[in-house]
Amino acid sequence: MQPHLTFVQITDSHLGPTRDFSYYGHQPYRTLARAIDLINAMPQPPDFVVHTGDLSNDRSAESYELAAELLGRLRVPLYLVNGNHDDRALLRKMLDAPHAPDGDPDAPLDYVFEVKGERFLVLDGWSPEVRDPLGKLSAAQLARVRAETEANGPSLTVLLHYPPFPMGSPWLDQHMPLVNGEELHAALRPAHARLRGVFCGHLHRSSQITRAGITYFCGPSTVAGYTWRPWEHTPALDPDYPPAYSVVHYFDGQVVVHQYTFARG
Ligand SMILES: [Fe+2]
Repeated sequence: MQPHLTFVQITDSHLGPTRDFSYYGHQPYRTLARAIDLINAMPQPPDFVVHTGDLSNDRSAESYELAAELLGRLRVPLYLVNGNHDDRALLRKMLDAPHAPDGDPDAPLDYVFEVKGERFLVLDGWSPEVRDPLGKLSAAQLARVRAETEANGPSLTVLLHYPPFPMGSPWLDQHMPLVNGEELHAALRPAHARLRGVFCGHLHRSSQITRAGITYFCGPSTVAGYTWRPWEHTPALDPDYPPAYSVVHYFDGQVVVHQYTFARG
């Protein structure tokens, strides 16, 4: 049983301006470097790697220089998604030209790419209309999603930073999802039969939601994880959280997602 396509999702790396920058007592540069070493050592290399946002913690030029140094070690194509801690213009500089068209460098970082006949739609959920770190998709973005889903097309995957729905942990539900995730879900439903899944970050925790035949996968952070529990009314980091990334296999008729944890080193 061999996958038709494999990709790795890394997310929420929160690099700071220096290699020894500390994120809640952890070392984001060191753990992202370790993740990249492990991905490069995979006996069967993935078709690509996607980083689903919060590559930087502080939007500094220095953090993106460190990101470029680390991600530049990858031996496979890289795609980037904008997160609430990111700078769109600096992310665009790291992407290949087709995904970073000339024009407004601060426009939402939305684009499409295709690999092995599979279509991937990248959406930028950051919005000035909502209180950070909530996200929102614009009417134009939702129209773009509908244009993808209402026509016939190949298998489709959506990549964005924000999970679409509250998930049952009060503080995080109040602050983290898309405010209009129900509209995204409605826009995706016409294509549910050919929709491989929606891959998000932002939660710093591996979590999945299944609704109406659509699975929303939230990937684990490469540096630190939140707790996610019904009694959590204030933000809380999980002291036992291991850094991790996801390996995603597309087989005929099924999607398999594995989380790989690793030592902080
Ligand atoms: Fe985030």
